[in-house]
Amino acid sequence: MTDQTESRPLAGRIALVTGAARGIGAAVATRLAADGAQIYAGDILEEEGRALAARLGPQAAFQRLDVTDEAQWAAMMERIAREAGRLDILVNNAGIYGPASLQDESAAGFRRLFEINQFSIFWGMKCAVPLMTLGGSIINLSSIGGMVGYKGTFGYAGTKWAVRGLTRSAARELAPLRIRVNTVCPGVIDTPMFYENDPALLNQFLESIPLGALGKPTDIASAVAFLASEQAAYITGSDILVDGGMLA
Ligand SMILES: NC(=O)c1ccc[n+]([C@@H]2O[C@H](COP(=O)([O-])OP(=O)(O)OC[C@H]3O[C@@H](n4cnc5c(N)ncnc54)[C@H](O)[C@@H]3O)[C@@H](O)[C@H]2O)c1
Repeated sequence: MTDQTESRPLAGRIALVTGAARGIGAAVATRLAADGAQIYAGDILEEEGRALAARLGPQAAFQRLDVTDEAQWAAMMERIAREAGRLDILVNNAGIYGPASLQDESAAGFRRLFEINQFSIFWGMKCAVPLMTLGGSIINLSSIGGMVGYKGTFGYAGTKWAVRGLTRSAARELAPLRIRVNTVCPGVIDTPMFYENDPALLNQFLESIPLGALGKPTDIASAVAFLASEQAAYITGSDILVDGGMLA
């Protein structure tokens, strides 16, 4: 007989995943649900988000959540408090890519990257903590772009470096509440974000990946599921790099 805690390590946990309608977020929501968690999925892509929740069944609910909108964060948290009574896992996944150099980036473009990729991390953690009454795990999506400098993604890389800084400070502040805070830093992952922006970059990237393939959204979901679980009970303020060896 399989041990229930082994096959469903997140049974009974309540999780919120942002940007869950597609790509990495959809894979994370699917994996956490398979591991037993009850899923609240947020995104601005409402049709895709509802379709995901329908695929996952009664264990999942979708609600519009624009991560730059304070009122929508409040509405999501109010629903979770009413229906589930608390929150255990927050995955701050929503993000946009911004291929522009310092010289080409506009103030509006830079501000938009900041609002969606960075300010959202502040909102998410700030709103989630009061609901994490039994402790919890917060996982923020950074990037290899938040580990080294990149030419041509000036604003994006800046926001992803900031995600790691916010994560580390929050890890220290929230440790007494038994809330762990970590990042997952994906390499080049095969999602709409990547191929919608610059498909020509694909081959160039492939050459620089020692494992010889793009990452899959499920590769990132595995790292997130680990950090969400008790297996990672002593890990906080850390970055897990999932990049096929790109930065090795
Ligand atoms: N794909 C990669 O190669 C890669 C690499 C490193 C890091 N990441 C990070 O992983 C995360 C997920 O990326 P992905 O590749 O799945 O991208 P994606 O574009 O496929 O999915 C991102 C999701 O975020 C949602 N989103 C965008 N703006 C939003 C907003 N204001 N409010 C709520 N939701 C919003 C989108 O609707 C979409 O569903 C991002 O934070 C991204 O920066 C991705």
